[in-house]
Amino acid sequence: KQKLPLVNHKVLVTAGPTYEAIDPVRFIGNHSSGKMGFAIADELAALGADVTLIAGPTAQQSKQRSIKRIDVTSAADMLRECLANFANADGCIMCAAVADYTPAVVAEQKIKKQDGGLTIELKKTTDILKTLGQQKREGQVLVGFALETNNEEEYAIAKLKNKNLDMIVLNSLNDTGAGFKGDTNKITMIDKALNKTTFALKNKNEVAKDICAKFIQLLKS
Ligand code: C5P
Repeated sequence: KQKLPLVNHKVLVTAGPTYEAIDPVRFIGNHSSGKMGFAIADELAALGADVTLIAGPTAQQSKQRSIKRIDVTSAADMLRECLANFANADGCIMCAAVADYTPAVVAEQKIKKQDGGLTIELKKTTDILKTLGQQKREGQVLVGFALETNNEEEYAIAKLKNKNLDMIVLNSLNDTGAGFKGDTNKITMIDKALNKTTFALKNKNEVAKDICAKFIQLLKS
C-alpha cells in the first residue's frame, strides 16, 4: 500500500470567523461559515497529515477523527493559539476570517440603551498571518486567503508579498457561488513565483483537494 503524501507532516489550519466582544452579551463578527477551512483540514488529514485546526465560532464538524481542534473566540485568542502551534508546524493554511478591528475597551456590564446614537471605538487587531510570515523558518510553507471585491489579483499579490507567503488563494466576491457562506467556491491560486492558476466553480471539498495538491508541491519543493 502506498504511503499517504502527508504522513509525518504537521499542518496548522485556521477556520471560521472571530467574535470581538463589545460587552458581555454583544460582539462584532462576520459571515464566515468555516466550511472552506474545515474542508481543507479534512483533506489534509485524509492525506495523512497531523492537523491542528484552530477554529473560531462555527457549527462545522470535522469528518476526520485525527484532527486536533482548538476552539477560539476572538482574534487575540486565535493569535495566541497560532503562535503556540506554529514553531512545530511544517506548514500552515490560514482560512479564518479574522476581525481587523476589535473594541478598544470591552464594557464590563451590558451597555444600556440611551437617547441618541452610540459610538464604539475600535482598535486594530494583530495580523496573525503576517506575524507568522515574519517568524517563518526555511522549509515552512505558509498559505493565506484573500477575499476581494475589486482589483483582486493586484491586492492578492500585495498580500502574498507583504505577509511573506508561499501562496495566496484568491476568492472574488464578483464570482457567483464563491466566497463566504455557500458550499461552492471559485479560486485563483498565486504562488510566490507568481504562477497563477484559475479553477472552475466547485464544491468546497473539491476546492480543498486542489489547494492541498498545490500545498504538497510547495512542501516538497
Ligand atoms: O489582509 P487580509 O485580511 O485580507 O488577509 C487575509 C488573510 O490573512 C487570510 O488568510 C486570513 O486568515 C489572514 N488574516 C490573519 N489575521 C488577521 C487578518 C487576516 O491571519 N488579523
